[in-house]
Amino acid sequence: MTVDLAITGGRIVDQGQSREGDLLIADGVIAGVGAPGSAPSDTGEIIDAAGHLVIPGMIDVHVHTREPGWTHKEDITTCSQAAAAGGVTTIFGMPNLRPPTTTVETLREVLDLYAAKSVVDYNHNPAASNPDQIAGMAELGIAAYKIYMVVDTGREYPHPAGTGMHDHGHLLEMFETIAPTGLPFMVHPHDQGIMDLIEQRYWAAGDRSPEAYAKTLAAYDGVIWDTAIGVLLRIAEATECPLHIVHAQTSRSIEMIRQAKERGLRVSAEANHWTLFLGSWDDVTTLGPYALSYWVPDHHKEATWEALVDGTIDMANSDHAPHTREEKEVGWTDMWAAHTGTPGIQYQLPLLVDAVGKGQMSIERMVEVTSNAPARIFGLGQKGSFVPGVDADVTVIDPDLEWTITDEDVLSRIGWTPYAGRTIRGKVIRTLIRGRDVYRDGTVVGAPGFGKQARPTTRPENGV
Ligand code: DOR
Ligand code: ZN
Repeated sequence: MTVDLAITGGRIVDQGQSREGDLLIADGVIAGVGAPGSAPSDTGEIIDAAGHLVIPGMIDVHVHTREPGWTHKEDITTCSQAAAAGGVTTIFGMPNLRPPTTTVETLREVLDLYAAKSVVDYNHNPAASNPDQIAGMAELGIAAYKIYMVVDTGREYPHPAGTGMHDHGHLLEMFETIAPTGLPFMVHPHDQGIMDLIEQRYWAAGDRSPEAYAKTLAAYDGVIWDTAIGVLLRIAEATECPLHIVHAQTSRSIEMIRQAKERGLRVSAEANHWTLFLGSWDDVTTLGPYALSYWVPDHHKEATWEALVDGTIDMANSDHAPHTREEKEVGWTDMWAAHTGTPGIQYQLPLLVDAVGKGQMSIERMVEVTSNAPARIFGLGQKGSFVPGVDADVTVIDPDLEWTITDEDVLSRIGWTPYAGRTIRGKVIRTLIRGRDVYRDGTVVGAPGFGKQARPTTRPENGV
C-alpha cells in the first residue's frame, strides 16, 4: 500500500482513545494509525502535527444553509466555507428554505445545488410534511427527516408553511410513515398552544422585547420544551420510529430522554452551542436578538452539560442559523418580528476545545459528540472515525493557541457572530476531506463543488 499522506506526531483522538501517533491516508481513506515515526519513507506528503490534536472532522447534522431562497443571508458555498474553517467536514442542511423542501422534486433540486456549490460533504433533511413523499425522498439517499413543532406568529420566517407541524395526529402519521424507511426523524420540540397563550400575555402588556420572548420560551421552567418532548417520546415509542431531538436544554426533558433510553427507545438528542456557551440571562439582555433569545437558566445549562458528558445527550450540533443585522435589529423593540436563530458553525468546535481545556469534558468525549456519534446515529459508516477504509475527513487543532473571535473573520455572508470579542484557547489549523485540504492556515482552499453527498451506508444506530 502506498501512503499518500501522513499526519505525524499529533495527538490522535478517536472512539474513546487518545494516543500520540501518525495518521496514514491512502486514496482519500484512512489507511491506519501508527506509532510516532511509523509513516513509510516513501509517503507522498507529510503534515507535521506535533503538539496538535488530530481528530475526525466534525459532522454537523443541523445547519441552515439558506439556499435556495434566502441567499441574502447565506448560501451553500459561504456556509460550507464557514464549516471548513470551523473544522466541520460534513453538514446536513435543513428544509426551511424557499421553496421549503417538502417534495421529492424540491429535494432533488437542493441536492443538485449542494453538488455544484458545497465545499464540504453534505446531506439534506427534507420536511416530512407530505406522507406521500416520504418513501421517494429516502431513495435520494437522505439520512433523516425534519419537522418543527413551531408555527411562527406574525412573521413568515424561519418556520415557513410546510415545515411546521404541531397537531399530534399529524405528528403520529409522520412517525408512522417514516418508521418503515428506518431513518431517524429529527424534530424541533415546541408546544405551540402554550407558546400562544403566554406570548399573548406579554403582548397584552405591550412588551415585545427580547427579554419577554426569552421568558415566554422559558416559562414555567421550560414547559414549552418539556411538554413537546413528552409527546414526541410517547409517539416514537408507539411507532418504533427512531427519533432525534434537537435543542435538548431543560433538566426535566433531559431526564425524560434518559429514562426513555433506559427503556430501550430509539432516541437520540443534541445540544446546540447557545445552550452550552450563550444562553445566560446576561446574554439575553446584552446581545438581545443576536443571542437567539432562548434563555437557558444556569440549572438547565448545567443539566445539559452533565447530559452531554454522561451520554444522555449524544451529540453537539451548531444549528447554524444566520440572519442579517437588519433582520436582527428590529428585535430590540419587537422580538416577534425578528428572525430568530444565531450562527455558529465556524466557532462551535473551537469553543468545545476551549471547554475541554477548562475541564468541562474530556477530549475523547468531545470527539464522540462532534463526530463518532453523529456518524453512527445517522448511518454514515464511511465517516466519523479513523477506522481503516473510512473517508479521511480530518481536523487538525492547536489546543494551546489563544485567539479572539472577531466579526472580521466570519466567513458566513452575514458578517457577524455573537461570539465576537471572546478570547478562547484552541484553533482549527487545517481541515481535510477525503484526504484533501479544504482549509489551511486561515484560508479556505476547497473549491465549491468538491463536496459530495454523504449517504447512509450503515443502519442508523440511534438509541442502540
Ligand atoms: O430560532 C430558530 N431559527 N429556530 C429554528 O427552528 C430555525 C432557525 C432558523 O432557521 O433560523
Ligand atoms: Zn435549526
